[in-house]
Amino acid sequence: MPTNPLDKKSQAWSALFSEPMSELVKRYTASVSFDQRLWKADITASLAHAEMLGTQGIVSAADLASIQRGLALVREEIEAGRFEWKLELEDVHLNIEARLTQLVGDAGKRLHTGRSRNDQVATDVRLWLRDEIGTLLALLVQLQRALVEVAAANAEVILPGFTHLQVAQPVSFGHHLLAYVEMFSRDAERLAEVQRRTNCLPLGAAALAGTSYPLDRERVARTLGMVDAEGRACVCQNSLDAVSDRDFAIEFTAAAALCMVHFSRLSEELVLWMSQSFGFIDLPDRFCTGSSIMPQKKNPDVPELARGKTGRVVGHLMALITLMKGQPLAYNKDNQEDKEPLFDTVDTLADTLRIFVELVAGIVVKPEAMQRAALRGYATATDLADYLVKKGLPFRDAHEVVAHAVKFAIGQGVDLSALPLEALQSFDARIEADVYDVLALRGSLDARNVLGGTAPAQVRAQVARHRARL
Ligand code: ARG
Repeated sequence: MPTNPLDKKSQAWSALFSEPMSELVKRYTASVSFDQRLWKADITASLAHAEMLGTQGIVSAADLASIQRGLALVREEIEAGRFEWKLELEDVHLNIEARLTQLVGDAGKRLHTGRSRNDQVATDVRLWLRDEIGTLLALLVQLQRALVEVAAANAEVILPGFTHLQVAQPVSFGHHLLAYVEMFSRDAERLAEVQRRTNCLPLGAAALAGTSYPLDRERVARTLGMVDAEGRACVCQNSLDAVSDRDFAIEFTAAAALCMVHFSRLSEELVLWMSQSFGFIDLPDRFCTGSSIMPQKKNPDVPELARGKTGRVVGHLMALITLMKGQPLAYNKDNQEDKEPLFDTVDTLADTLRIFVELVAGIVVKPEAMQRAALRGYATATDLADYLVKKGLPFRDAHEVVAHAVKFAIGQGVDLSALPLEALQSFDARIEADVYDVLALRGSLDARNVLGGTAPAQVRAQVARHRARL
């Protein structure tokens, strides 16, 4: 068995060290407990690097074959749960390399030629994140589809639209849900943008300054699928930047935080709508829990947790952006702290997306309750004002007339549409029998037949646009 310096971690990097690390320092500096999650990316990137070293004649064909055989064995061991992760070997990179060398001897030690853990880890994280973003994008499509279908089924269902959480104007429930489709579609756009910038190769930057070996970085990039839309290799153009910046992780987390904020807003509405005071919707039991003390309770735990988990992702964004602040070029060990917030951001967002794809499809809509609520808050007062404007009254005057009418109706304890024609005419003589069309909720909706408006006809057009897009 050939000797492997990585077997004795205290001297792993150099004979320079004369005393071993304390247990506490080992634990404090090690990342293997969490960064082993990058193993697949690490092996993929190592294979691409080794293959390039081979074609460039930097390692022999025999060594390349040994490395490939060894990494295949390592992969099998990890997949089978047989791989022994060692804290002494600090991180995923040193663990895999040490095992490779154990398996194939000196060839394993040649893998690190022209490479440093600094460009290695930057590459692994980028590869890993690129693929995770792919999964998130697919889930975002599913979520939007689910919302679009519920919107399509509820284009004509009317609920009060709110400003300041006060009843404002009636809106279509379908229209309301499509607002979230717009938000999530922008989230998808942002993530796709971040994915493009993430998909760029640091390898070849080595520790910080580049390397003296004749590497073919573009070849490695192409092998790893780090190419632009035209198929051109995407390679980090400055070695110092390549190993040190984590802006791709920060902007990913920013996009994820914003997406979670959208979930949080939707969640807040679901919680309100499901409360007894609103009663607009019900959520299937499988998304709710009961109370251990109050037998009547059914709590909307899933949306509440999504709202809560938003704080956690926003926190990760703060952690990552603060991590970067004040780091001099180039690589600093601070960057090892990027992983846990990044991993948890991906996990939290992915699970939230998965659960909402199902939850949205399960929403039980209660149209009568929505309609009743819309009738309670004088939601068509603006329609009466618009009606008077069409009869020649300046808008400001119409606004004033309607305010008086609403005050009167409040005194009578009825909706505007329930006032007799004579009563309405006492506020303005121009009011005629056709006023009841505009005071009706549906009339109010249909009147807003402008692009982006809440008229069911517009909602159906938007549904068609989204269906074609998704
Ligand atoms: N585990 C390290 C990280 O995540 C890998 C890079 C270590 N580089 C170094 N020069 N110590 O950042």
